[in-house]
Amino acid sequence: MSKVTHFDHPMIQHKLSIMRDENTGSKDFRELASEIAMLMAYEVTRNMPVEEVDIKTPITTRKFKMLAGKKTAIVPILRAGLGMVDGMLKIIPAAKVGHIGMYRNEETLQPVEYFCKLPQDIGEREVIVTDPMLATGGSAIDAINALKKRGANSIRMMCIVAAPEGIKALQEKHPDVDIFVAAIDDELNDKGYIVPGLGDAGDRLFGTK
Ligand code: URA
Repeated sequence: MSKVTHFDHPMIQHKLSIMRDENTGSKDFRELASEIAMLMAYEVTRNMPVEEVDIKTPITTRKFKMLAGKKTAIVPILRAGLGMVDGMLKIIPAAKVGHIGMYRNEETLQPVEYFCKLPQDIGEREVIVTDPMLATGGSAIDAINALKKRGANSIRMMCIVAAPEGIKALQEKHPDVDIFVAAIDDELNDKGYIVPGLGDAGDRLFGTK
């Protein structure tokens, strides 16, 4: 079963509480989503492998640690996942960014992929999928299916707010995908919104309704 890491750091919780406030406008909401993603990226990358390399300082040459092994790909699920990308790039500036867009056909309930553009070497990268809200888990499950179909084999899921239902569904379908969240809320309401949540993250990020 995959691991769930819950970030209850005071800075993250403070910023998230402001995001939840219905009076917070798009500009602040966007900045806060980006700052939370940046703080989370620090922890999401904690176990990335390092190697010793020779570095010549002005004084002498010594072995120092640098990142080794697989490179990273950040893959936001369109569109709200975009709100976490620039914060993550502040910590992992060399990461490539893929994009994936899915919707569900309301009659067949089957996922429809309407956009997918990934780094060519996705199978050789550590993939971090971003979506601020893990509600039913449907989009995350479908997006990860699409990534695996294209060869991704090391995937982490990063969200800001998750519902217990979404975590359970994602763990059942993708037990190899570790989940990183800033908050685990109470439940989903009958419209599929997370309670207490923060409303529609995409609309609040981009100022639409
Ligand atoms: N997506 C959102 O943006 N908000 C929710 O509460 C659930 C899904």
